[in-house]
Formats: sequence, C-alpha cells, structure tokens
Amino acid sequence: MKNVPIRKAVFPVAGLGTRFLPATKASPKEMLPVVDKPLIQYAAEEAEAAGVDQLVFITGRHKRSIEDHFDSAYELESALEQAGKKELLHIVQNILPSHARCIYLRQPDPRGLGHAVLCAEPVVGDNPFYVLLADDLITGDDQGNGVVAQMAEVYARHECSVLAVQEVPREDTRQYGIVEVEPGPGGCMRVISIVEKPAPEDAPSNLAVVGRYLLTPRIFDLLGKTDSGSGGEIQLTDGIAALLEYETVIAYPFKGKRYDCGSKLGYLEATVEYGLAHPELGERFGAYLRNFCG
Ligand code: UTP
Repeated sequence: MKNVPIRKAVFPVAGLGTRFLPATKASPKEMLPVVDKPLIQYAAEEAEAAGVDQLVFITGRHKRSIEDHFDSAYELESALEQAGKKELLHIVQNILPSHARCIYLRQPDPRGLGHAVLCAEPVVGDNPFYVLLADDLITGDDQGNGVVAQMAEVYARHECSVLAVQEVPREDTRQYGIVEVEPGPGGCMRVISIVEKPAPEDAPSNLAVVGRYLLTPRIFDLLGKTDSGSGGEIQLTDGIAALLEYETVIAYPFKGKRYDCGSKLGYLEATVEYGLAHPELGERFGAYLRNFCG
C-alpha cells in the first residue's frame, strides 16, 4: 500500500435514530443542529480539514435533507443576494469548498453499520478511507487539529487501519466496541481483539471505539463474508475483528472532547458547551446560564 493522502470519507447516515424519537421520525438525526450547524456539517468540515475531497454519504429513507443541505439552494441564495445579506449568502454558498464532491449511495435497509460501510465499496474501491459517525461530535486538539487529521498523521507513520478510542467507565462498555491492546510500533497501541458491546465483566478493557475510523480496503472483503448477527445486522466490529488476522490495526487515543450526540444528554451537553464557545452568543449565553443556575 502506498502512503498517499486519504481523500475519501464515508458518512453512514442511514440509521433509524430511535433514541431521538420523535424528533427523528421524519428528519435525520444527523441534521440535528448544535447551535447553528447540523451535526453532519461538523463531521464534513472535520474530514475536509484533513484533506478529504470526496464525501460518500450512505443514506436511507427520510434523508433527503442531507442532500439538500450540501446542494446549492438557488431560491434562498437569490433572496439573500437581493436583500444584500452578503454574510449569510457566503455561509450558505460555502458549506463545503467548491472542489469537494458529494456522492450519495442508498442503503436499502438499515442492516447495521458494517453493512452501511460495505455499501461504499463501489466508490471507495481499493483505497484507504475514513468513516465518520456524525452523531459523535468531537472537538480537535489545542491547535485545532480534528480527530481525522490526527489519524491521518498516525497513518502516515504506520500505513495501517486506525481506530479512534477513548477510556469509558466500566459500566458503559455495553454501549461500545471495546478493544484489547498491546504495545505496538513506535509507542502506539496495537489492537489484539475487539468485541461489540460486552458486559462490563466480559470487557477486555475500558477502551472504547468511537465514531472515527481509518480503514484499509481489505475491510470490504471481510464485511462481505461477515454473518449478520441477531437482528440481521452486519457489525463493523466483526469486520475489524476479522481484519486483525491479516493486518495491524492501531488504537489511537485522540486528543479532543467527544459529545455523544446520538443520546439526548450528550446532545444537550454539546449544545451548552458549543453555545458558550460561540463567538457571537457565548458571552450572553454564559450570563443567562449563570443567572438561571445561580
Ligand atoms: P447508531 O446505532 O448510533 O445509529 O449508528 P442509529 O441506529 O441511527 O440510532 P439509534 O441507536 O437507533 O438511536 C451509528 C451510525 O451508523 C449509521 C447511523 O445513521 C449512525 O450515523 N447507520 C447505522 C447506518 O448508516 N446504517 C445502519 O444500518 C445502522
């Protein structure tokens, strides 16, 4: 495999978002806004900042608004232009840089995250690629490098798959894929096993995989051979477990803070903290909160 920049990112957005019903009955979870931007835009910007220029969305029913969000909006743009609202016009015209390409593929049924990733094979082909789950909203490091950019650096050194991980409380292991690791090349952590949603007493560690993956294309073959488990879902974790038999996979403890915006509490935490950090709203919102809580 040649060490070339990774230009493709896959955004699985075909899930049902049941934890957020009824908000997600007719509109996608990934379009929930945190302050003024939908979750999917934060994820797209993070990938784009790391050099991605092909964004592959795995969509399902009721996901049209994601396509519309990244498309041009002729009527809105001409209304803003006529009203002289240049700043707003700039915002809606620059959701993504002009060289970025969005590709939409349909997952006919939500048959699991592994199946969603497998749907991207015809576009990704024989290239390493990122997978971003937009409901994990993650700030970057202190220099503003997002998690995908951090993972690109790990890939440049090791040329293998990389999983973003974080330590979670033992009692939460049932919500995540959990990895077992050993010291690997250059001081990194090599994954030796991975298990989906183990009970705390069965978990090999408390290192959880979060919604950022850098995967080599061999994963497609392996996902194609992965049996669907109970509920008919193909798990990405099972594909990665199979990958471990052939290739090195690194667990990367990213720098940044993660908000689980697929859960109501995580979403509210993100809304408060992004609101407080917002350049125009932060001060007044902080004053409001102090008054409210005091
Ligand atoms: P989640 O399990 O967090 O999302 O999948 P969900 O199923 O939509 O939400 P809940 O648990 O019912 O509330 C992680 C990501 O994988 C996508 C989802 O859209 C989400 O971004 N996904 C999941 C798919 O694209 N296809 C699937 O079959 C399953």
